[in-house]
Amino acid sequence: MPDSARFLRACRREPVDQVPVWYMRQAGRYQPEYRKLREQHSLLEICRNPRLCAEVTRLPVEQIGVDAAILFSDITIVFEPMGIRCDIREHVGPVIDNPVRTRADVERLRPLEPAKDLPYVLESVALLRSQLPVPLIGFAGGPFTLASYLVEGGPSRDYVRTKQLMYSDPVTWHRLMDLLADAAARFLAAQVQAGAAAVQVFDSWVGSLAPADFRQAVLPAMQRLFGELQKLSVPLIYFGVATGELLALMGESGATVIGVDWRVPIRTARARIGRPMAIQGNLDPALLFAPWPEIEKRARAILDEGLEEPGFIFNLGHGVIHHQPPVAVSTLQRLTRFVHDYSREQLQSAAKEVPSR
Ligand code: CP3
Repeated sequence: MPDSARFLRACRREPVDQVPVWYMRQAGRYQPEYRKLREQHSLLEICRNPRLCAEVTRLPVEQIGVDAAILFSDITIVFEPMGIRCDIREHVGPVIDNPVRTRADVERLRPLEPAKDLPYVLESVALLRSQLPVPLIGFAGGPFTLASYLVEGGPSRDYVRTKQLMYSDPVTWHRLMDLLADAAARFLAAQVQAGAAAVQVFDSWVGSLAPADFRQAVLPAMQRLFGELQKLSVPLIYFGVATGELLALMGESGATVIGVDWRVPIRTARARIGRPMAIQGNLDPALLFAPWPEIEKRARAILDEGLEEPGFIFNLGHGVIHHQPPVAVSTLQRLTRFVHDYSREQLQSAAKEVPSR
């Protein structure tokens, strides 16, 4: 895998020949091959088997021509070794039978030791490094998002128990944030050492917080997490959903790339972040169910703003949605081709406009 890969160049805000693209949840149930594999194996079985994990991770690269692979895993994979029983239920999501709600519960959590606790993940990364023609993105869950599952015991609409802990017992809350930040930092560092070329922190539900609460209750843990990873010199992507009001603060986290959802136009996101960082996003994943001309129109609008500054990576604003009938593989193939072709033309004509002396 050449270090000149355009995904990595865009993360570093270096010039690219065309805009790189990958999709959150690019491996998953919209793919017939994945659905077939899932008839034989559970999600966690696939995650724990390096050969299957590598196969599923490679599939979208081979099939839709994306510029980066994302390790096939789940943010909840760290729970079991930390002493939490977690089951991923179909159409529900992660469900936990011993939720973490008190200081004693937090103190019982075991610190994560990636090489000992999750060796199969690191083996998958190493295997993929030797097989992939594009960079591999490692990932972990953000402390707030992980805490929301741990405290609620499952998915939640309003995060009442999580916020209750956050507001009523800040000492325990910060202890939990630090523990989860350390687990994520160690896990991501181990993934990089095993061969991941970039990492993304999925903090999907952090957008439920007001800016003042994010600053006070979450940002210190994020700075601790990214601070630990800076010395690895790989791109550090921070992604969340509905984070329009948090973008300036996310820019202070120590990440080098910010992932934005579809609610904020790219130009606005850049202005809000207010510092030279790469941006990743942000087609509404529901648009993949719209007619092609509509998809193309929206993708072009995103690219026009994305290309205004160096450092743009095309993605969805959140993961590929699981729906019946599923997103067609051909739609993602066509979108990928469009992003590449359109951005290459735009970059070439911009280069011609520069007066030569
Ligand atoms: O291609 C990729 O993006 C890599 C794979 C990946 C999965 N989970 C596999 C998976 C990634 C990056 C994740 C991250 C993840 N997991 C997040 C953050 C990103 C996001 O979507 O917000 C979150 C919140 C989770 C927790 C989780 N795991 C949920 C909410 C679900 C969905 C439950 C459902 O049935 O809809 C899962 C299960 C899961 N993780 C699936 C996949 C492909 C689908 C279920 C399956 O195949 O069994």
